[in-house]
Amino acid sequence: MTRHKVAVLPGDGIGQEVIPEALKVLEVVARESGTALEFEEGLVGGGAIDATGEPLPDATFRLCAMSDAILFGAVGGPRWDDAPTDRRPERGLLRLRKELDLYANLRPAKCFPMLIDASPLKRSVVEGTDLMVVRELTGGLYFGEPHGIERMADGSARGVNTMIYTSREIERVARVAFDVARKRRRRLASVDKANVLVVSQLWREVVTGVARDYPDVKLEHILVDNCAMALVARPTQFDTIVTENTFGDILSDEAAILAGSMGMLPSASIGGKTALYEPVHGTAPDIAGTGVANPIAAILSAAMLLRHSLDMGPDAEKIEAAVLRVLEKGYRTADIRQEGTTLVGTVQMGELIAREVAALYS
Ligand code: IPM
Ligand code: MG
Repeated sequence: MTRHKVAVLPGDGIGQEVIPEALKVLEVVARESGTALEFEEGLVGGGAIDATGEPLPDATFRLCAMSDAILFGAVGGPRWDDAPTDRRPERGLLRLRKELDLYANLRPAKCFPMLIDASPLKRSVVEGTDLMVVRELTGGLYFGEPHGIERMADGSARGVNTMIYTSREIERVARVAFDVARKRRRRLASVDKANVLVVSQLWREVVTGVARDYPDVKLEHILVDNCAMALVARPTQFDTIVTENTFGDILSDEAAILAGSMGMLPSASIGGKTALYEPVHGTAPDIAGTGVANPIAAILSAAMLLRHSLDMGPDAEKIEAAVLRVLEKGYRTADIRQEGTTLVGTVQMGELIAREVAALYS
């Protein structure tokens, strides 16, 4: 029997509530498919700071590095908001991305037909939306040097972050994006700010060069401000989007509302040997601890984990089909609630999906 080891890092806030539901579903898959999945939990984020003083304790990093995949919840929360940058929960996630070389972040945003009316946008605008944001994840403003705050003798100060990209960093994420586009509808929009930033001019030059190896993919360049507008005005014009770290952070949150709710969106961070899978929604401090969070993004992240890291595509499809079935039957968490549907909490939604997955195997 094949054995796979999965590092499980629930983190903070609703991460603690949605990850157990994703595990419930993975346990059904393991049992029904006869695969040995071994789960081991690690501390990360604010909880890890409280317990060890570090947002990413060494033990957690070692666990991640020796696992076949990482299932991640979310990190952060108001309790740690005033901590210095290197003692913030987010550092734990950023260090994992950097040290595991997870340079490409895949964030699919698909409009689920039964959730169209949960989107704040008009049906005529969002219907048919199915796009993938490929965000560069280990470069740009997030990691560029120099960075810091310089305090002057006269009491004034100067803050610096550096947007820096090498041609190699651009090329490798561009290749991931072209490969992704090739398996989709063969259209790639590269997003930059080349009318102002020289780093974007290099980005455009390198992406255009890589395009020569992908004559079957139609490439267009679009400025980030224009892209932000087009995403909510004409989202169906997009197939695959590739962009640098900060632009991708912003645009992928924007794309999330196209799916009806942040609570629906999974993500995969790939590049190095061990990939990381996490829901896009974050810790949601406003609802944490109340049992109402939507576990679907975490469950769909588990499906991506099976497909991309464990080569279990057909099992991933069963999870995705089970999610659709439960939605079709009218069950909704609060974030996607509509008239005439049945409101359920986090645990109930997880159980409904787990049961549906089991049924798909029999
Ligand atoms: C995300 C988050 C992170 C980011 C934070 C938590 C550091 O917003 O994954 O999009 O900015 O990358
Ligand atoms: Mg973000």
